[in-house]
Amino acid sequence: MRLPEKLYKKLKNREGSNALRTLSVQKNLIDFSSNDYLGFASSKTIFEGAHQLLLEKTIQKNGATGSRLLSGNHKLYVETEKILADFHNAEEALIFNSGYDANVGFFSAVPQRGDVVFYDELIHASIRDGMQMSNAKSYKFKHNDIENLKFQVERNRNESNDQEIYIVTESVFSMDGDSPDLKSLIAFCQKYNYHLVVDEAHATGVFGDNGVGLLQELGVEDRVFARINTFGKALGCHGAVILGSNDLKRYLVNFCRSFIYTTGLPPHSIATIQMVYEELQRTSEIEKLIENITFFTQELKSKNLTSRFIKSDSAIHGCIISGNENVKKIANEIQKKGFDVKPILSPTVPQGKERLRFCLHSYNSKEEISEVLELLATFVHI
Ligand SMILES: Cc1ncc(COP(=O)(O)O)c(C=O)c1O
Repeated sequence: MRLPEKLYKKLKNREGSNALRTLSVQKNLIDFSSNDYLGFASSKTIFEGAHQLLLEKTIQKNGATGSRLLSGNHKLYVETEKILADFHNAEEALIFNSGYDANVGFFSAVPQRGDVVFYDELIHASIRDGMQMSNAKSYKFKHNDIENLKFQVERNRNESNDQEIYIVTESVFSMDGDSPDLKSLIAFCQKYNYHLVVDEAHATGVFGDNGVGLLQELGVEDRVFARINTFGKALGCHGAVILGSNDLKRYLVNFCRSFIYTTGLPPHSIATIQMVYEELQRTSEIEKLIENITFFTQELKSKNLTSRFIKSDSAIHGCIISGNENVKKIANEIQKKGFDVKPILSPTVPQGKERLRFCLHSYNSKEEISEVLELLATFVHI
């Protein structure tokens, strides 16, 4: 069947701007690109633990068999949500099939007609998609710029009594690796009774004791309306959780369409999540990751590369190389030498801000870090 002409045109345009995406099978390169920051995705302990847990509980099921509101809410869900709520110091936890589902579901269901959402201009696509499905209006503010947020709120809120205001940010931005001033954001939201929502996808497993996340590291988790933590990054498995009040959970269970109209995660995924949370409490991988982040930053300095990079204390480090063609070329050269470093193209990031994205891991050696940066230096110091 022929694709409609307009769709061919869109593909052609992508090709024209050097931004056509294709699927490639993972090659066996040194990993500077996956989100598996702690190596949990291939942890034998977690893999075997999950299997064992299912055997112990005599759960022999390959699938959830239905939506969690129908037949899919097996007992592991209840147990695991309790573990997650305790670990993350939240009143309640609600597991979603993915971070994408959690964000789309939350932002399409919670803000109502007449409410307003203010979002950081670099917010993740899943939050944008959720906002588009909502009847609430949404306005962006400049990246990590609280003064601009205040200006936008002043300009766009109205005086109506029942207007609720939501402010959404990420505790670690997925493409830049930087963080907002969360304490100031919280103070601002508290002062005016606004609802702060924080996506902790790239902070979970990285920041705080046992990888609890950045909000808990700062001790401010109880002042946030909702937190979204995902399991597909540092936790190496799959799914996500929304952390919040008991009432928020009751509301989502009733009105959140990406939660209701989908088959729940299979018991095996939930068992894996449980094992991951056990592993977080005994692993030394988080310290190794933090050590590597510190080492990477020192190496940037010693190789005179700091100014090329977006400032970051997280596992994500972006080296700006303007232009899709340029960044693809350099990524390709680095990959040829055995390092998996991915180019991030526009329109995923703004034009002119194309970049090489270095994701650091607990299992990267110091030699690998030095070598890849040495190589990078030969391309950018021309
Ligand atoms: C900030 C952020 N939120 C949400 C998601 C979506 O999470 P998941 O991969 O579990 O769907 C991602 C992943 O790309 C992300 O980077």
